Amino acid sequence: MVQALVAGGTGTAGRQVVKEFLARGHSVRVLTRHGGAPGSEIAHFHGDLVTGDGLDEALDGVDVVVDTTDGKTKGTRAVLEKGAENLLATADGAGVGRAVLLSIVNVDQAELAYYQAKRTQERVYESAAMETAIVRATQFHDFIPMIAKPASRAGLIPAFSKTSFQTIDTRDVATALVDAALATDAPKGTITIGGPEVRTARDLTTAWKKATGTHGFVVNVPLPGALGQFLRNGSNLVPDNRFGTITFDRWLAESIH
Ligand SMILES: NC(=O)c1ccc[n+]([C@@H]2O[C@H](COP(=O)([O-])OP(=O)(O)OC[C@H]3O[C@@H](n4cnc5c(N)ncnc54)[C@H](OP(=O)(O)O)[C@@H]3O)[C@@H](O)[C@H]2O)c1
Repeated sequence: MVQALVAGGTGTAGRQVVKEFLARGHSVRVLTRHGGAPGSEIAHFHGDLVTGDGLDEALDGVDVVVDTTDGKTKGTRAVLEKGAENLLATADGAGVGRAVLLSIVNVDQAELAYYQAKRTQERVYESAAMETAIVRATQFHDFIPMIAKPASRAGLIPAFSKTSFQTIDTRDVATALVDAALATDAPKGTITIGGPEVRTARDLTTAWKKATGTHGFVVNVPLPGALGQFLRNGSNLVPDNRFGTITFDRWLAESIH
C-alpha cells in the first residue's frame, strides 16, 4: 500500500484520482486551501502551493504525489508556476518517490496565456530533481456544458464552428494518473490520453441539449483568437491515443438526473 497525496484533490479531476487510489487499496491524502472536510474519512491537509504553507506536514511520509491543481484566471495562475516549484521542492526534500502532473494535450501548440502557464508548469516537472511524469489529456466531458450552458438561458446554445472534440471522462483520466503514479518502471516521456470518440462540437452540444431537455437553438459560433485557431487545427485531438472508455453519451446519462 502506498501513501498518496493529491494536490487538487477537491477539484473535478482530483476527486476522481482520490477515489481511484482508494479503489486500488491505497491510502490517500488531499491538499486543500480550505481546511478539512467534516465527516470525510479521507485526511484533508490544509496547505497552499503558492505560499508553501502546510506543504511540509502534508508531504511528510508520502510516497507519490498527483498534481491536478488549476489556476484558470490571471490572478490564480501562480499555482501553475510558483506552486509547482514549491510542491516539487518540498516533495523532493521529503523523499517522495514520484510526482505526476495532469496537463493538456498539445499544450505547447497554442499561443494562449493559460496554455503557456501550463507549459511552464510542465517544464518545472521536466527539470525537477525528483522522478516525475506528465499525463496530457484531452478536454473533459464537462467542457461541452461549460460552453453551452451559460448562454442557453437566453435561448441560444453555442457550439464552436469547424471544431471537434475528443472529450474524456475524469474517471478515465484518474485511471491514467494513478497508473503513472504506481508504475514500477520509471516514467519515459509524456503520456498522452484522449477520449474514446472524436465528435463535432455541434454534435456533442446537440446531445447535451437533448439529454438535459434544454430549450433553445444550437448555434454555430466562430471562436476567435489563439484557442479558436488551436481547435480548428484539430490540435486538441489525439485519435491515435484513445485511452478513455467512458463515452460522452454514457457520461451524460450518468450525470444528468
Ligand atoms: N478541464 C479540462 O477539460 C482539462 C483537460 C485536460 C487537462 N486539464 C487540467 O486538469 C487540471 C485540473 O482541472 P480541474 O478542472 O479538475 O480543476 P478544478 O476543478 O478547478 O480544481 C482545482 C484544484 O486546484 C486546487 N488549488 C488551486 N489553487 C491552489 C493552491 N494555491 N494551493 C493548493 N491547491 C490549489 C483547488 O483546491 P482548493 O480550492 O480545495 O484549495 C482545487 O482542488 C488543470 O491543471 C487543467 O489544466 C483540464
